[in-house]
Amino acid sequence: MINRKINTFIPELYPKNERINMNSLESGSNVQSGLEMIMEKSPDTIVLVDRNLTLVKVISAKDDYYHYLANNCIGKQPQALFPDGKNYDQYEIYRAAVKRVFEEQVKVDFSFEVSFEGKNYYYLSQASLFNEELVIVYTRNVSSLKTEKNLQELINTILDRLPLGVFVKDGDNHFNYLYWNHFMEEITGIETREIEGHDDFEVNYNALMTAEERLETDMNVIKTGLTARFKGKVKSASGDYRDIEIAKYPISLNNGKPLVLALWRDITSELATENTLRRTRILTKMALRISDIRPDFIYMMEQAVKAPSGHNTQPWLFRVQKDRIQILPDMSKSLPAVDPDNRELFISLGCATENLCIAAEAKGYTPLPFFSGSGEITVLLSEASMIKETSGLIEEISVRQTNRGIYSGEMIPSDQLSYLRNTPLEENISLHLWSKGEWEFDTLSSYIFAGNNRQMNDRLFKRELKSWMRFNKNHVRATSDGLSYAVFGAPNLPRLISETIMGSVLKAGIQNRGDKKKLDSSSHLALFALRINTLPEWFALGRSLQRFLLRATEKNIAFAFLNQPCEVRDLSGLLAKDLSFTNEIPALILRLGYAKRKMPYSPRKSWRERLVP
Ligand SMILES: Cc1cc2nc3c(=O)[nH]c(=O)nc-3n(C[C@H](O)[C@H](O)[C@H](O)COP(=O)(O)O)c2cc1C
Repeated sequence: MINRKINTFIPELYPKNERINMNSLESGSNVQSGLEMIMEKSPDTIVLVDRNLTLVKVISAKDDYYHYLANNCIGKQPQALFPDGKNYDQYEIYRAAVKRVFEEQVKVDFSFEVSFEGKNYYYLSQASLFNEELVIVYTRNVSSLKTEKNLQELINTILDRLPLGVFVKDGDNHFNYLYWNHFMEEITGIETREIEGHDDFEVNYNALMTAEERLETDMNVIKTGLTARFKGKVKSASGDYRDIEIAKYPISLNNGKPLVLALWRDITSELATENTLRRTRILTKMALRISDIRPDFIYMMEQAVKAPSGHNTQPWLFRVQKDRIQILPDMSKSLPAVDPDNRELFISLGCATENLCIAAEAKGYTPLPFFSGSGEITVLLSEASMIKETSGLIEEISVRQTNRGIYSGEMIPSDQLSYLRNTPLEENISLHLWSKGEWEFDTLSSYIFAGNNRQMNDRLFKRELKSWMRFNKNHVRATSDGLSYAVFGAPNLPRLISETIMGSVLKAGIQNRGDKKKLDSSSHLALFALRINTLPEWFALGRSLQRFLLRATEKNIAFAFLNQPCEVRDLSGLLAKDLSFTNEIPALILRLGYAKRKMPYSPRKSWRERLVP
């Protein structure tokens, strides 16, 4: 394999334009001057041998060994060409070649080695009939090329062992591949023999660009003489995605042949290391700062992360300063399919803020939350000068949970309902409660079914939902977010089985049958509406919602979200009309009732993981 590669790389050992025209020798009258003329152009050696294998003439080359011969071996047998006994084999090669020329009158190419005064010399020879009585042996010293050949072998071995993809394309011939190293074989799954001599349209492998784009790039590299560089992800032969940095260089051989040399560098682990380093640096910095964070502030963040969030994405980040905690949106957690304008994301931030404020009050602080136009929340925290009355909901923060089970069917008594109805609401937020049997309950139910029909037939919605499903205990542990198998009442099963089962229920019919049972088992539906549908109101809705949920928890009332009609925006408009809303936009729907049993709690990432400098 190595030899084949060398041949690709180094020019012919015996380039045509350096070959000597033997015919000119034969016709020349002055043999000596003819030979010398040739010798001027060539560093080689010419020997004339007669039928008795006696050396008649030796015109010396420039190397020491043939100088020695020229002076010492005229009139001797060819053994004289091989000064020490060790070269016997090589002498045989020489003698046999000369004999064959005399016998068969053909040209014979051969090669031999000589060791002389501790040095090795490598020769390529051609023997042919000079006249009836003489054979002329033209010899070329290729020692330097031989060394070069060893060097090339070494280079090939190195190139093959490099953690770097190397390939060379022929700019003169369709950009055919001339060389392809081991790394390229590994990453693409394409073997050297499959690709060498072929172009991009004949061999297909995963790359950053299409074959057409690669051809255009290669042509540009040759045309402009400029290096082209790219970076991106490539699916490797083993199926994983690797970060690859590619550089394509224009190079040309001595004979002017244009080539494209390309290097593929796998920077996956480098990027991962960089990210880890960056994260470690930040964490170290933060760890130092964490030791500075007041325990009260830590307690507040611990309560904030217990807030509900769409698909349990936990889209919050915290920044702590001396007298304040900032809650920042983590837009990488947005849900473009179900929540295209991020309304539910900011509702979730409102819920987290409310928890934080309740915890602050419980610790004797007066929290003052501000919502900036860009979506950042700053909660100023001053220690209260006198003991104030608190909402008393601090205990409920840890108890609260979304319960998607079937409820008992028991109705919520009116005193508890009015307690819920009296939840303090932020400006521009309204709350409606309808009991089972009221027409609004039925209207909302039919919109929930319509919502299921739409969402369960929406490929993007389902793909996004599945991406936030956590299919077994290990999966939950690895992510600490998302919708755990357990909250759907599913058992802890191997991922493949669980994924199949959980995926198979994402059908409109199944969801509607399930939701019907759940609605029938509930006591009331709650609808939160917005008077203005903009970011500050979404945040305000979140705060109001969280107060409501904690009050429900306090009264042992279970709840679950049935938000479908608010998420499918045209349904939300129709629902508003059917409910005769004039200036209210339906934003959140919950069913309420009494749970038969508590559900397992959803996982949470620690506030530490969500801390930013
Ligand atoms: C704005 C918002 C919208 C939500 N929408 C739904 C929903 O449509 N369906 C659902 O089952 N849960 C919904 N949830 C509930 C979350 O999935 C739940 O809060 C999260 O999984 C964490 O679980 P927990 O509430 O038990 O702590 C929503 C939560 C929020 C804050």
